[in-house]
Amino acid sequence: MTDRSVVKVRIARRGPLVGRLRVPGDKSVSHRALILAGLAHGTSTITGLSAGLDVHHTRQIMAAMGVRIDEADDTRADQPVGTLTVLGGELHEPREVLDVGNSGTGARLLAGVCAAQPFLSVIAGDESIAARPMDRVAEPLRQMGAHIDGRDGGRYTPLVIRGGSLRGIDYTPPVASAQVKSAVLLAGLGADGPTVVREPVTTRRHTEEMLAEHGGEVTVQPDGSGGSVITLIPGSVSPGDFAVPGDPSQAAFWICAAAAIPGSDVTVENLYLSPERSGFLEVLLRMGADLMVDRAAGVVRVQGAELAGVVVEGAELPDLIDEVPALSIAGALAISGALEFRGAGELRTKESDRIETVAAMLSALGATVSTGADSLAVQAGTLSPGFVESHHDHRIAMAAAVATCGLAGDGHVTISGWDAVATSYPSFLDDLDTLSAPR
Ligand code: S3P
Repeated sequence: MTDRSVVKVRIARRGPLVGRLRVPGDKSVSHRALILAGLAHGTSTITGLSAGLDVHHTRQIMAAMGVRIDEADDTRADQPVGTLTVLGGELHEPREVLDVGNSGTGARLLAGVCAAQPFLSVIAGDESIAARPMDRVAEPLRQMGAHIDGRDGGRYTPLVIRGGSLRGIDYTPPVASAQVKSAVLLAGLGADGPTVVREPVTTRRHTEEMLAEHGGEVTVQPDGSGGSVITLIPGSVSPGDFAVPGDPSQAAFWICAAAAIPGSDVTVENLYLSPERSGFLEVLLRMGADLMVDRAAGVVRVQGAELAGVVVEGAELPDLIDEVPALSIAGALAISGALEFRGAGELRTKESDRIETVAAMLSALGATVSTGADSLAVQAGTLSPGFVESHHDHRIAMAAAVATCGLAGDGHVTISGWDAVATSYPSFLDDLDTLSAPR
C-alpha cells in the first residue's frame, strides 16, 4: 500500500485572496446524480459532475452494477463539455467488492441502494472508511428487512448486504445525518409501502429534492419545530438531465479565509445555496464578515474585514458540519474573541476526528485552540508558518493551504498527506494560484 503521508506540498506565504471563480461540482449532488440516473430506466445526462475521487468511486460502483456511463459526444453544440450519459435501469449483482474509497457518503447512500436489490453486495473502502460508523445505516436498513452484516456486527465496513423484499418504515434517525436519511429513502424506493423519515433537525435535502425532480413521489413537511417529515412512496425514478451546481463546501475555503484577510475580495459563482448548505455564511455574518449573498443567483462576494469569534451550536451544526475546518481559519485570523463549536461530537465521525485534527492543524500554525469531548474553541490571533499533517482528511489539508494567504510571518506551510485533496477538489492548487500570489 502507498504510504500516503509522504505526499507533501510546501506552500509559500501568499497575499490576500482576490478574484472571481466557479468552484467544481458539488460532491453531495454528484453522488446522488450518479445513483438516481443509474436507477432510472433510460438515458440521463449529467453535467458538472465533481472530478473528485469520492465521486469517481460511486461512478465505478454504479458501473459495476450494470449501469452504462459514458462521456457524451463533446462535438454536440447543445451539451456542455464534460457531459456524461448514463443508461440506467435494473441493477445486477456486482462480481467485485464495491470500493467507496474515502467516501462516507458513497458508503452510506450505496448501502441504501444495495439494500433494495435482490442480490449480494459488499461495500468497503480505505482505512478512514473502516473507522467510520456504519451502524447508523445498517440499523434502519435491517428494520426494513435487509440482511446486513459486517465487521463488529455491521458497525464497520466491510458491509455485506443481502437486499430485496423491503418494507417501508417510519424512522427517526438518532443523529442528524443526511446520509442516513438518504440511505433510508433510497432503500424505500424499492419497499412495499411508504417510508417516512422524521428529522428533528433538517439536514441537506438533496435526496428528496432530486427524487422529486426526477419522478419520485416524495413529500416534505415541516414538523413545526425546525425539523422535517419526509414521506416517500415506493416507485421508480425517471431519466432526465442532472445539472450539478458548484460545491459550497469547496467555496467555503476561499470565502472563510477571504472574510478574515484584509485586502481580500473574492466572488464565487455557480453555488446552490440552500439553508442546509450555507450555515457557514450565517456564522461569518455573525462574526462581522463583509458578505454579499445572492442566493437565487448562487453568488457570494466577500471582502476582508475584522472578525470576532462567536458561538456555534445546536441545530446550526448540521448546516455547516463540513465547513468547520474552513471556518476555523476565519476564527484563528479574527481580531477578537473565540470561535466556539459546542455540541459538535459529529465532527469526530468525519474523514478524520475533526475536533482533534482541526485543533492539531491550527496549533501547528501557532493558533491557540482548546478541545472538549464535543467542542472546539479557536482563539482569535495570528497564524504562522508550520508543518501540518492532513490525517488523510482533504478538508484539513485545504484549510491549512488557504491559511498561507493570512500568515503573519514569512515562510511556508508544509502539508503532509496532501493527496487526500484529490477525493474532493483535485484542482484546489490551481484555484489557489488564480486567487492569490506568493509574496
Ligand atoms: C453528506 C452529508 C453530511 C456531510 C457529508 C456529505 C451528504 O454527512 O458531512 O460530507 O452528501 O449527504 P452526515 O449527513 O452524515 O452528517
